[in-house]
Amino acid sequence: MKTLIKGGTVVTAIDTVEADVLVDGEAVVALAAPGSHSWEDDADKVIDASGKLVVPGGIDPHTHMELPFGGTYASDTFETGSRAAAWGGTTTMVDFAVQVKGETMMDGYTNWMEKAAGNCAVDYGFHMIAGDINESSLKEMEQLVDLGVTSFKLFMAYPGVLYSDDGDILRAMQTAAGLDAMIMMHAENGIAIDVLREQAIARGETDPVYHSLTRPAITESEATHRAIVLSELAGVHLYVVHMSAKEAVAEIAEARDRGLPVFAETCPQYLFLSVEDHVSKPGFEGAKYVCSTPIRLRSEGHQEALWNGLATNDLQVVSTDHCPFCMDDHPTLGMQKKLGLGDFTAIPNGLPGVEDRYQLMYHGGVVGGRIDVNRWVEICSTAAAKMFGLYPKKGTIAVGSDADIVIFDPNAKWTKSVEQHHMFVDYSVYEGLEVQGKVETVMLRGKVIVDGDEYVGEKGDGQYLKRDTVSVHH
Ligand code: URP
Ligand code: ZN
Ligand code: ZN
Repeated sequence: MKTLIKGGTVVTAIDTVEADVLVDGEAVVALAAPGSHSWEDDADKVIDASGKLVVPGGIDPHTHMELPFGGTYASDTFETGSRAAAWGGTTTMVDFAVQVKGETMMDGYTNWMEKAAGNCAVDYGFHMIAGDINESSLKEMEQLVDLGVTSFKLFMAYPGVLYSDDGDILRAMQTAAGLDAMIMMHAENGIAIDVLREQAIARGETDPVYHSLTRPAITESEATHRAIVLSELAGVHLYVVHMSAKEAVAEIAEARDRGLPVFAETCPQYLFLSVEDHVSKPGFEGAKYVCSTPIRLRSEGHQEALWNGLATNDLQVVSTDHCPFCMDDHPTLGMQKKLGLGDFTAIPNGLPGVEDRYQLMYHGGVVGGRIDVNRWVEICSTAAAKMFGLYPKKGTIAVGSDADIVIFDPNAKWTKSVEQHHMFVDYSVYEGLEVQGKVETVMLRGKVIVDGDEYVGEKGDGQYLKRDTVSVHH
């Protein structure tokens, strides 16, 4: 099956060129000046991309489909969440398999494989959440790398659940260093935060806004600093996830300036949402925006610092940390966000976003004048492909790359709403936001899976990605 995408502007992390793209089977086989060839004659399908951007499929390296958290599960399954990802122009997601206490890492891997296999609309890989570091789980890390799970997430937050102390972190980092694997870190001082949470509850401060206020920026920057020190000791690649504090970004910048292989991501929620406008909404409304690291005070200047970090490459990636929980009861799982009515510490942490990212980053980044189109593609696709062992199969449009391609209308204007999204959750954190730029067509390995507003793929189109080790060093 040959498809010609003609007349569009092809944008990669490096170039912006007017070019026709020829896809044969699952791969890109040629690019050429518009109309300079006779490809149309033997193409099975021709897509007219005039006036549109032709960009690599998005890569979201941080999702949590069906994550168990706080007595419930994230509301999107691999089936519903990956389809929503496709609608939003994301053709690869890397989800977090979980090793909970008492399990082996292989248990976590097998469980996640079972949840995802045959259900995904887009290609998928896994990181491993190392929730129980001990002699035997450290030994399993090599086996996981061989299976394509080449990154391991550790938690300095959530004591008693997924938390690891500094000794276990260092042991895991040393093991990862020997395997060329990436350590991903949830960097918040969870022990200190737990004290602040207890004290807030004792004062009667039970509303959702206190979730944000009991996780001050310094608890993120201290943990980020400590993670960098431990990674330097171990000589491992470090990737700090979901950064929201400007002081923590400064720690990353300082480490990178010293030449350390330290990387970091932020997420759209930290660039668009604030305590003042969202988390402090009256009643229980603020629960929609409860996630960790938290949405922060706009007045403290974090949003500007994060945008600036993306522009200057102090931050390399924008992921979603997609981890939705319903405000009203979930049809099968029952109470979700409402578990924390009257006690913010019981609100499941996380919010939806897998469908929103590529388009929102165009709107806020490119239309907003903060980054150019090439940087937009880099932070939403290319950098993650390089960081997580998928490049150049994924993350670019080049001869031989998978034909994961998004045709994007840079001028379409629309309003974001729960009515229009496809994620399995009953609210949008961007409700009413007017945006410019829209995904029009999505191709996964040469097959069109989204055509206009219609999903035309099939359950199970997505394949498991056995990832290589890290292929970027600074
Ligand atoms: O609030 C969040 N981020 N929930 C998902 C779990 C995590 O820490 O990434
Ligand atoms: Zn986390
Ligand atoms: Zn997460």
